[in-house]
Amino acid sequence: MSEVTTHIYYCDNPAHAIEDALASAGAPQLFVVADDNTARMCLPLLAAAVPSVAAATVLTLRPGDEAKTLSAAESLWRQLTDAGATRKSMILNLGGGMVTDLGGFVAATFKRGMPYINVPTTLLGTVDAAVGGKTAVNFAGLKNQVGVFAQPAATFISTCFFDTLPERELLSGYAEMLKHALLEGPEALAAALDCDIIALDPATLLPLLRESVATKERIVAADPTERGLRKALNLGHTAGHAIEELALEKGALVPHGYAVAWGLVVELVLSHTECGMSTQWLYPVAACVRRLYGSMPVECSDYPRLLALMAHDKKNTSPDTTNFTLLEAPGRPRIDCTAAPEAITAALDIARDLI
Ligand code: GLY
Repeated sequence: MSEVTTHIYYCDNPAHAIEDALASAGAPQLFVVADDNTARMCLPLLAAAVPSVAAATVLTLRPGDEAKTLSAAESLWRQLTDAGATRKSMILNLGGGMVTDLGGFVAATFKRGMPYINVPTTLLGTVDAAVGGKTAVNFAGLKNQVGVFAQPAATFISTCFFDTLPERELLSGYAEMLKHALLEGPEALAAALDCDIIALDPATLLPLLRESVATKERIVAADPTERGLRKALNLGHTAGHAIEELALEKGALVPHGYAVAWGLVVELVLSHTECGMSTQWLYPVAACVRRLYGSMPVECSDYPRLLALMAHDKKNTSPDTTNFTLLEAPGRPRIDCTAAPEAITAALDIARDLI
């Protein structure tokens, strides 16, 4: 496994930090991996300020999670081979989670591993995928089914690409910030609930990003390959993934962060019933989720399918039990919790009443 430490830079404008990091890495060749959107909207900004990026070979991908495939990885491996890339070459991933997951996977596997850096361009990618070293492609209809842990050499966090992000993208990222705040503790949660993510100016947002990412960094540093504590980062995701997959089956595309926000409420209800978490925390989070994300697209008739989807979650260790990360209180996660189908059904009922 690669080195666990990633240097994380927080800057209003990442250009100088990127140029310095590239200069000190001394990689003989730089490859920029971007999708069609980030190549068009973000790359010119970076290339204008960073000469090494302007001189780099650009490898582009189709945008969207459906493009995170083994054949896209193969195409990148081929282009790297044709361009004479070596183990000392460097990949700079410029984009959201799809680009950093796929570009990281390609870097981690090409010639058994070359260094890569992440320059996330979405709020969701910034607080989640660009940090922590999970790289993957989707496979056989399953998300992130093939991948490796490989830490980026550096991640550059800034708000300079967020101007053009649609509101739903910001909300998608905010759900993961809410999750980190729940894992951090009451103070962080109060601050997260207090902030208006849509109206925030970059100068106020950057310190919030730093705090949110610091929570993830702390957890990843303690357990980089998810043997234990890192499972805490799955809070909201067992129910959330099931809601996302159910919507997909019904032909609707629900943004990942929205599903996580609804999943957080379901799992906070379970945290109350199964771990005794006080409702003092459940109600304000549910009110915030209702206000920002609206009600869950779930009917009573969906429960059997949702339960089946949760039971198939790849984090489960046995086919008969559904695993959750729950909270005893904000800042006190309990991993590897199981809940009976009746308890999950009751939590879905209560969550639907609350949001
Ligand atoms: N997205 C959860 C993790 O990185 O572990």
